[in-house]
Amino acid sequence: MDLSLKMKEAAGRAAAALVKSGMKLGLGTGSTAIHVVRTVGELLEQGKLRDISAFATSFQTEIECEKLGIPFYSLNSRELSGGLDLTIDGADEVDAGNRLIKGGGGALLIEKIAAYSSASYAIAVDETKIVEHLGINFPVPVEVVPEARVTAGNALEKLGANVCLREGLRKAGPVVTEHGNIILDIRFGSPVDPAALETELNRIPGVVENGFFTRIRPRVFIARKDGTVEIRK
Ligand code: A5P
Repeated sequence: MDLSLKMKEAAGRAAAALVKSGMKLGLGTGSTAIHVVRTVGELLEQGKLRDISAFATSFQTEIECEKLGIPFYSLNSRELSGGLDLTIDGADEVDAGNRLIKGGGGALLIEKIAAYSSASYAIAVDETKIVEHLGINFPVPVEVVPEARVTAGNALEKLGANVCLREGLRKAGPVVTEHGNIILDIRFGSPVDPAALETELNRIPGVVENGFFTRIRPRVFIARKDGTVEIRK
C-alpha cells in the first residue's frame, strides 16, 4: 500500500482508540477520518464497543455509517440534543499550537459545528499536514452563499487573499456544498493571524463559515513515515 495511505490509516486507527461505549460521537470527513469510521464499525461488530450514537459530518460519512451499520442521528435529534462527547476528524494543515485548516473535502461547515459542540476533539493526520504557518501552502476554504460570489470575493481580496472559486470534478462549474453554497479557496502570501481571521472572515456578508479552526485545541494524532503515531496535546 502507498505510504501516504498507510499513514492515514495508522492515524485514524490510533485516534479511534479514544472512542468508548455509550459515547455521542462526531465522525469527520475525508480519507483519514474514514478510517476512524471503519474502526468504530469493526469494534461495534466485534462487540468491543456498544451504544454509540454517531453524528456524520458529510454525505460521505453518512454513507459509510450506513454501510457499516453505525447508528447516526441529526445533531437536533433527541439522541444527541446538540452535544457530542467526542469528535474525531482529519485536517488539511495543523500548526504548532494545534490550530487547523479544514475543508479540503468541502465539509467545513458541519465539521466546525461538530467540533465546537464537542466536549473533546481529536484530529488524525499524517506528518505532511504539519506546518509552521497556516494558509500559505494549503488554501483556506470559505463557504459562501452563491449570490455573494463576487462581493465576498472582492472583500477577501481586500484582506490580501488570492481567491479561487472551487470547481467541481466530473461536473461543470463550481462545487456546490451540502448546503447549496459555493467555496472560495483563499491563500495568503505571508503568515497571517488565523484566530483573528477566523472571526473576521465570517463578518463578510454572504460568508457562511471558514476553514480556520482555532478556538478548540484538539489532541492531534500524527502518523510518521517510520510507522509510529505521535500524540500531540
Ligand atoms: C473535509 O472537508 C476536510 O476537512 C477533511 O477532514 C480534510 O480535508 C482532510 O482530509 P484528508 O484526510 O482526506 O486529507
